[in-house]
Amino acid sequence: MSVKSTVLEILESSRHADVSGEYIAAMMGVSRNSVWKAIKSLRQDGYNICSSTNKGYRLSPDCDIISAEGISVNTQMKIPVYAYKTTDSTNMRAKCFLAEKTCDRALFVAEEQTLGRGRMGKDFYSPYGTGIYMSYVFSPNTEITNAVTITAAAAVAVVCALEKLCGISPMIKWVNDIYLDGKKLCGILTEAVTNYETGIVSHIIIGIGINFSTVRFPENIRDTACSLPSAVAVTRNELIGAISDNLYSISNDLEDRSYFEIYRDRMLVIGKDIVYYQNGKPHYAYAVDVDSSGGLIVSDSDGNVKTLRSGEITLRTR
Ligand code: BTN
Repeated sequence: MSVKSTVLEILESSRHADVSGEYIAAMMGVSRNSVWKAIKSLRQDGYNICSSTNKGYRLSPDCDIISAEGISVNTQMKIPVYAYKTTDSTNMRAKCFLAEKTCDRALFVAEEQTLGRGRMGKDFYSPYGTGIYMSYVFSPNTEITNAVTITAAAAVAVVCALEKLCGISPMIKWVNDIYLDGKKLCGILTEAVTNYETGIVSHIIIGIGINFSTVRFPENIRDTACSLPSAVAVTRNELIGAISDNLYSISNDLEDRSYFEIYRDRMLVIGKDIVYYQNGKPHYAYAVDVDSSGGLIVSDSDGNVKTLRSGEITLRTR
C-alpha cells in the first residue's frame, strides 16, 4: 500500500480528530516529509484537508470523495474495492471483471456513470459527485432458487443502512425501489452471471444507485425522484461501507430468511390499489401481501388472486 493510500485511510478513519504529521510518520515508519508529500498530493486530487499548527491534519467535514480507502475503513467485512471517478456502469465494470477473473466478493463504485442502467431497460441518472453508484459482487454457491430472493435482501440491506446511519424511515416499493416521502431515493438492478455450460449461477451483481445529494434531476424524473434530506450528516463512504457489510451478512447465508420480515414490514404497497403491467397492458389490482419468496400477491379487479414474480407496478391514486 502506498504512503498516500495509508495517509488517506488514517484521515478517513479519524474524521473527527486532528492527527499530527509526526504521529502518522511514526505509525507508518516513514519521514514527516513523505507524509507532507502525500497530503499535498491528496489536496491536488481535491481532498479538502484542514491543517493547524501543533495539532495536525483533518478532513474537512464537507469533504466527501468516494475511495477504496474511505470505504475500507468503514467496513467490518473487508472485500476488494474498485473505485472509479467516471465509468460507463459499475454493473458493467463488474461483468467485464468477471469475464477475465474470478472472485468470491468485490465492490465496484463510481463518482459518475455515463451509461447508468436501471431495470426494464431504463437509464439510471448518475451525475458526478452527488450519488452512490455501487455494484456488489458475490458468488452465491447455491441453487438459483435460493438466489431469487436476493433482490428483496438487497433492498433490506440498503433500507437498514439508511435507517441506521441517516435516521430516516424509507419504504420499499415492490420489487426493490427505495422510496422516501413518496419519491424514489434508490434503485436496485440485480444481475446474474451464469456459466453457459453448467447453467449454474457463478456470480450475482447487485447494482445500487442512491440519489445522495442530487439537487437537479432531469425533467422526466423531476417530480418522482428525491435525495437524502440535507441535514443528514453521513459520508458516502460510510453509507457504502454499511450497505456492503449488510450485503455481506445477508449473502453469506441466503437460507436465513430473517431479513424477510423487514422486507415485508417496509413494503410500501401492501393494502394499496396498484397497476401492474403484462405484455404492456395495464391491470388494476389490490396489493394483498408478499409471499415468502418475495412475490407480490394481488387481487385483480375481477377478484382473482395471483402472485406477481417480476415486473413493474405503480401505485394508483383514487
Ligand atoms: C432502477 O432504478 O431501475 C435500478 C437502478 C440501478 C442503478 C445502479 S447504479 C449502480 C449500478 N450500475 C448501473 O448501471 N446500474 C446500477
